[in-house]
Amino acid sequence: MTAAFARARANIALSKYWGKCDAALNLPAVPSLSLTLDDLVTETWASVDGALDADAVTLDGSLRTGAEAATLGRFLDLVRSRCGAPPNAYLMVRSSNHFPTASGLASSASGYAALAAAASSALGASLDDAALSRLARRGSASAARSIFGGWAVLPAGVPGDDALAAQPAFDAAHWDVAMVLALADKGPKDVSSRDGMRRTVETSPYYAAWLATAPLLHAEVRAAVAARDLEAVGAAMEASALAMHASAWAARPAVRYARGATLETLDAVRTLRAQGVGAWATMDAGPHVKVLCAAADASTVSTHLAAVPGVLGTRVARPGAGVERT
Ligand code: DP6
Repeated sequence: MTAAFARARANIALSKYWGKCDAALNLPAVPSLSLTLDDLVTETWASVDGALDADAVTLDGSLRTGAEAATLGRFLDLVRSRCGAPPNAYLMVRSSNHFPTASGLASSASGYAALAAAASSALGASLDDAALSRLARRGSASAARSIFGGWAVLPAGVPGDDALAAQPAFDAAHWDVAMVLALADKGPKDVSSRDGMRRTVETSPYYAAWLATAPLLHAEVRAAVAARDLEAVGAAMEASALAMHASAWAARPAVRYARGATLETLDAVRTLRAQGVGAWATMDAGPHVKVLCAAADASTVSTHLAAVPGVLGTRVARPGAGVERT
């Protein structure tokens, strides 16, 4: 029996992906740029098991069943076909997230990046990073970026073209920044990013405006990251997040991830800036706020945000490494 291990980390997009141009191939309609974080780790073990008549995937100690198992099985079918493995080379997979307890930050990005790496190794294939990123993208587009450490770009897709992979932009040592995670109330279960973006594409009158704006904001973020200009990155990053969320709010019914604590945190970030601390916010398909700042300001930012009403806790993350395999 061949056993394989992979470790991958979550990433946070500074310029956001929101909306697909080809849902079947999971191709994003807009380009995005992310920072892979050291703190949010998924570890996955995979082995081919001749006794199985279907894949068996255990996530955080519980065996996945029903629709979730079917989705994972379809992804593993794709991995087998990319690796030239027989269709009945079923896998035993165990995966655990090492995220801050009950943070609600569990990410499909680190999950699919680690799964693509562990499963392909278990099947005896040694895929390079571009091939792994292409594969992880089919599981979750943001996962394509977690193959790479530091700053990664996922270009917009072209409908029908399955070759799209993320590309490394700058390594983790490029810039000494921190991402402070302010964990907001979890509340009732959120709409998944996949459903939220689908509803935005199908019903939001502002989706066209988002499509027109996102590439410009992405170019602004990318140039500012290259120049290590925190203020310019921060301004474009906030604009990208707010434009993405505005397009989602305008969907029918509305897709709204922000909660009270989310808005209180955005106010607190503005207060920090008024006090001379360089801090800028971004939000994803959930209530938490992620705040970019210079590494030297991370503890000031973290202390300030921990006192915001409704914030359950904070966590400081730094630029992290790409996928690791053994
Ligand atoms: C708001 O990558 O989770 O985090 O491709 O459907 O799995 P699927 O979506 P996913 O969407 C991420 C959306 C986002 C922005 C981003 O990470 O770019």
